Amino acid sequence: MEHVPTGIDGLDKMLNDGLPTGRCILVCGGPGSGKTILSMQFLRHGAIQCNESGLYVSLDEDIGQLKEEMAGFGWDLEKLEEKGKLAIVDASPIRHIPKEVKVGDLWVGKRNFSSLSLIEIVKKNVEKINAKRIVIDPITALTLQYPDISERRTAILDLFEALSNLGTTNLITTELRSVTLERKIRAEEFLAHGVIVLHVFMSDKEIVRGIQIEKMRGIAHDDQIRPYKITEKGIEVFSQEKSLIATPITSTLQV
Ligand SMILES: Nc1ncnc2c1ncn2[C@@H]1O[C@H](COP(=O)(O)OP(=O)(O)OP(=O)(O)O)[C@@H](O)[C@H]1O
Ligand SMILES: [Mg+2]
Repeated sequence: MEHVPTGIDGLDKMLNDGLPTGRCILVCGGPGSGKTILSMQFLRHGAIQCNESGLYVSLDEDIGQLKEEMAGFGWDLEKLEEKGKLAIVDASPIRHIPKEVKVGDLWVGKRNFSSLSLIEIVKKNVEKINAKRIVIDPITALTLQYPDISERRTAILDLFEALSNLGTTNLITTELRSVTLERKIRAEEFLAHGVIVLHVFMSDKEIVRGIQIEKMRGIAHDDQIRPYKITEKGIEVFSQEKSLIATPITSTLQV
């Protein structure tokens, strides 16, 4: 299986060279755990080091604010956009689609329309810059529109299938609310090819961060939780070190 380097050295070591090409990988983490920074590092590395254009689709965050935050790491995203190496798209309007939308003579329900619109937005922009890497950050705004588990599975499967058919390597972030290692596993985690979890804990009044590759189909990977830091260079993973986070994991299945 071919590998796509993320550009985060320690994480690439944990993955034995990088992410599997052409797959859909979930990045799960709580607020401020570094999902957006990790995703942008992945796209920047592709654009700068691997000659692979990247598409970033935001479902939540204001694009202006995102660029400002990333500039804090010395990352000039607009320069990459000008060179056609990066496209940043605000897809948050899909959250505001009314209950039903008229398409030609047909009325289409909000739910169907939301996932279809996202897929269309992605396809159009991938073509524009010939993207090889895609980030959707975070998918939560979409999945929350599907309280019914079977509808949710179908919407996620449709999205993953559409992304896989594009041949791109895809990172999809999702919000994690649990503050312990015990958490509810959601449908998207079963359906993704791989799952990377960013854990953040308080230990003796100090924040401890740990990254874990929970699954990665087709790759022999490190399955331990390893420490990571967010520094002025972005995310740094210490793949040779043991994490202070060592509580046994007991997860439950969520409907
Ligand atoms: N220059 C920096 N040095 C160290 N840490 C930083 C720096 N800039 C940001 N951070 C840390 O990164 C966090 C934000 O990371 P990021 O936006 O990637 O998180 P996120 O998981 O996407 O959060 P959200 O769920 O809110 O979108 C901040 O809360 C802060 O702890
Ligand atoms: Mg974010």
